[in-house]
Amino acid sequence: MKRIIYFSSGIVFLCSCVLALEEKVELSKMDKFRPGDLWLDTSGKPIQAHGGGIILRDDAYYWYGEDRTPGQKTSVSCYSSKDLYNWKFEGTAFRQDDLAAEIKANTFIERPKVIYNAKTKKYVLWMHIEQQGYHFARAGIATSDKPMGPFEFVSYLRPIKYEFDFPAPDPDRQKEFGGTYRDMNLFVDDDGIAYVIYASEHNATLYMVRLNDEYTAPLKPIVDDATWSRVLVGKYREAPAPFKYKDKYYLISSGCTGWTPNAADISMSDNIFGSWQSKGNPCIDDGAELTFRTQSTCVLPVAGKTGCYIYMGDSWNPRRLSDSRYIWLPFKFDDNGNIEIKWLDEWDLSYFD
Ligand code: GAL
Repeated sequence: MKRIIYFSSGIVFLCSCVLALEEKVELSKMDKFRPGDLWLDTSGKPIQAHGGGIILRDDAYYWYGEDRTPGQKTSVSCYSSKDLYNWKFEGTAFRQDDLAAEIKANTFIERPKVIYNAKTKKYVLWMHIEQQGYHFARAGIATSDKPMGPFEFVSYLRPIKYEFDFPAPDPDRQKEFGGTYRDMNLFVDDDGIAYVIYASEHNATLYMVRLNDEYTAPLKPIVDDATWSRVLVGKYREAPAPFKYKDKYYLISSGCTGWTPNAADISMSDNIFGSWQSKGNPCIDDGAELTFRTQSTCVLPVAGKTGCYIYMGDSWNPRRLSDSRYIWLPFKFDDNGNIEIKWLDEWDLSYFD
């Protein structure tokens, strides 16, 4: 009898601790970025939005990324925020099971990105979809009427078939299906024209491809150097993070060393199709040579602050991908059009004042 009483009072004690903890998490609003710290959503759970990207719609930000929760199939998560510090989980925007029937069992999702199409009023999701061995290497496309989804699958493809010097044998079967599609990003220009940029030719060369009016496929007919181009040819750059400043295009990218960090590069071009010129590593000071142990995923322009951006990187933990951390660092263009990204333990948006 006594034992039962002890046991139940133990449960009551435990429950009140959990409640107290939840209350505390709920109450402690974030007002700073702490790169590399565990980042909790507004319900107190670690944010699962790896290899992700952010869009601003009306007065809300939406952050999409890979949900790597252990024991689950990969999916695309969606979080919303008004201030960039505090993120509310809006649910799973797209699940592996939403892929085409013939591929969903063995195909996983990486680096999802979403853009909004003002003409069709749809949110358009592009992602790298992959299978064991990384030879599938295709784009998956889905659309939704609402930012948080659910997104409906449209198609999967390799956007461009180009006769480069194919390796032989080629496990990626590029002659047959087109150039590989791996690390990727989307970019909407000021004129509303959208582009997808992705690591192709087995990661040797990035492809910049103009999308159709719906943003759901490459613009047809496909014309070399007019609707698409090869970028940083043979340079083995991936994790592309494009942005624009004063009519020039910029691209932060990483080298190709899998989950292991390496040095970033920033390239610049007057025209989105090139020619792109490397300006070297934008990172400075301690940790610069390994991009502060991160790999680029996105560059977010700071709303209302011309020339101000946030570098978003993933600090991958390959043994436990779900515990990969987010490293956001601020940067501004100086009067000579240069940028420097440096490590900060803690910062907030007043950095841009
Ligand atoms: C990286 C890539 C990641 C993931 C990883 C798998 O190079 O950026 O998104 O694909 O390889 O090893």
